[in-house]
Amino acid sequence: MAKQWIAAGMLLALAGVSGAQAQDYPTRTATVIVPFAAGGPADITGRIVADIFSRYLGQKFVVENVVGAGGTTGAARAARAPADGYTILSGHLGTNALAPAFYPNLAYDPQKDFEPVGLTAEYPELLVVRKDFPADNLREFVAYAKAYPEKLNVGHAGLGSVSYIGCLLLHAAIGIKPTMIPFTGTAPVLNAMLSGQVDYECDPVLGTLSQVQAGNVKALAVAAKKRSPLLPDVPTSYEQGLPEFDMAPFYAVFVPTGTPQAIVDKLADALSKGLNEDAVKKRLAELGAETVEQERRGPKALTDLIKAESARLLPILKAATEKEK
Ligand code: MLT
Repeated sequence: MAKQWIAAGMLLALAGVSGAQAQDYPTRTATVIVPFAAGGPADITGRIVADIFSRYLGQKFVVENVVGAGGTTGAARAARAPADGYTILSGHLGTNALAPAFYPNLAYDPQKDFEPVGLTAEYPELLVVRKDFPADNLREFVAYAKAYPEKLNVGHAGLGSVSYIGCLLLHAAIGIKPTMIPFTGTAPVLNAMLSGQVDYECDPVLGTLSQVQAGNVKALAVAAKKRSPLLPDVPTSYEQGLPEFDMAPFYAVFVPTGTPQAIVDKLADALSKGLNEDAVKKRLAELGAETVEQERRGPKALTDLIKAESARLLPILKAATEKEK
């Protein structure tokens, strides 16, 4: 009996501690894990998130790039971290929805091991080729790719990354299997493309925007129904007869499952307030993000989006990877 009382007391004490911790949260520096290399879309987005949390929650939120295996190394690290709000994942469609399609032994379950905090941004992808690639539009690209598939080198951020998935959709639509070269993120892919080691990549618009605008690489298509206002001269995949190349991945914030609700709420509230700031909206628009209405950004909406995107894309990816075999 005495033992039972002690156990019950301990449980209450633990609950009390976590309740108090949640109320005071945050009392020290927190880490935002970005599972890709510095300088790319995931990193730029993760730094916007870290800045919002730092400003609204009054403690430092520091970005740590934990790269490898298409973002799943960093996501696995975040999934295993204590569920106390001090380790946050800035993940995306790949790490937090589609990764199991590529990694049968994935070290985490994207839906069971994470609590969604909120959606940060959605960016359409671009097909970008090196400056001297012998094609100036998607039709010319398709003709060249079909004629010389063995000559093509495609850079991507690892199996299951959104740059990998975007090009997988493109290749499946065209019916080619070029050499796919993994990097730790699309920032290093861009460097490799600038030095001519890689022919092309499929990357969310912010990844290559400044180099496209400077004329150092060529954007051949926006993988979406409508053009990007930042690149009004670049036609969409739909306009160019390849609607299967349609990819606008979400980037979003997650914490390990078990994080006290009060902490999830504080983070979700801070994120929402930050994303409603005019300066942040302007910055995201300058990076090529789609406007995402507030109702589509909260934890519940993000859960629904993950389910919807998984249902839409998993059969396509399954068919595309079957064709790859
Ligand atoms: C990056 O930041 O490197 C990319 O967004 C990662 C990816 O392609 O999934």
